[in-house]
Amino acid sequence: MKFDDLKNKVALITGASKGLGKAMALALAEVGVKLALVSRDKKLLSEVTAQIAAIGAEAVVFPADVADEAQVVALEKAIAARFGRIQILINNAGINLRKSITDFTLEEWNRIQAVNVTSAFLMSRSFVPHLLGQGYGRIINMTSMMSHVSLPGRTAYSTSKAALLGFTKALALELAPEQITVNGISPGPCTTEINRPLLENPELTQFFLSRIPVGRWGRPEEVAQLAVFLCSDAGGFITGTDIVIDGGWTAQ
Ligand SMILES: NC(=O)c1ccc[n+]([C@@H]2O[C@H](COP(=O)([O-])OP(=O)(O)OC[C@H]3O[C@@H](n4cnc5c(N)ncnc54)[C@H](OP(=O)(O)O)[C@@H]3O)[C@@H](O)[C@H]2O)c1
Repeated sequence: MKFDDLKNKVALITGASKGLGKAMALALAEVGVKLALVSRDKKLLSEVTAQIAAIGAEAVVFPADVADEAQVVALEKAIAARFGRIQILINNAGINLRKSITDFTLEEWNRIQAVNVTSAFLMSRSFVPHLLGQGYGRIINMTSMMSHVSLPGRTAYSTSKAALLGFTKALALELAPEQITVNGISPGPCTTEINRPLLENPELTQFFLSRIPVGRWGRPEEVAQLAVFLCSDAGGFITGTDIVIDGGWTAQ
C-alpha cells in the first residue's frame, strides 16, 4: 500500500526518542507525515530528527515529561505555534518496573500509572480539540499484551495497561461521530530498551522465546507498520479496539 492519504498530515508521538516510538516516527515519515517528537531526552530526539531529515521528511523536537500536567499544557501551545493543528496523536510513552507486590513503594506504583495512563488522559485532553472538526483524526494508545494477560511481577504495569485499554474504548465512543478513531496496539515482547533487563539475562531471554510461538522477539518496525495502517484511510472503520501483535503469545 502507498498510503498517499497520509502525506502532509501532522503526527505527535510521545516516547519518540527510541524503541517503538522512534520506529513509528520513521515509518510515518517514510509516507510523508510531519512529526512532532516528544520525550524527556532532547539529544536522543534530535538524533531521530536527523534520521527523518535524511529521508526528506520534517520533524520537530518538543522535550517534555508527559506525566506532568503543566508540561503537557505548555506542549500543546508550542506544537500549535509550530504546526497549527495535528491530525494524529500516538500516546506511546511508557515505563515498566518488574517486582513483587510487597516490594513496590507507593511512589513507584503512582509513577507507573502516571506515565502509562494519566499521560494519555492529559495528552488527549489537550490535543483532542486539534482533531475535532477535521472529518479525520487518529489516536493510538500503546497498550500491551499485558493489558490482556500477565506474568508475576507485573501488577503495576498490567494495571496501567488494562486501564489504558479501558480509556481507549471510552474515548473511541466519545470521538466516533467526529470520524476520529481511537485504538490500542498491544505488542508482545519486542527488542527495545524497556526489555533490556530481559534481553540481558540469558535465562529470561530463553523463557520469553519459549513462550512466543513464532520463536522470536518482535521487531519495532513491525509495530510501526501497523500504526501506519491504522493512521491511513484504510483504517477508518477500525475504532474502539485493540490490535494484538505478539507472535501468538496470547493465543495460548
Ligand atoms: N517493547 C515491548 O516489548 C512492549 C510491549 C508492549 C507494550 N510496550 C509499550 O510500548 C511503549 C514504547 O515502549 P518501548 O518498547 O519503545 O520502550 P522504550 O524503548 O523504553 O521507550 C520508551 C519511551 O517512552 C519515553 N518516556 C518514558 N517516560 C516518559 C515521560 N515521563 N515523558 C515522556 N516520555 C517518556 C522514553 O523517552 P525518554 O526516556 O527519552 O523520556 C522513550 O522514548 C510503552 O508504552 C511500552 O509500555 C512495549
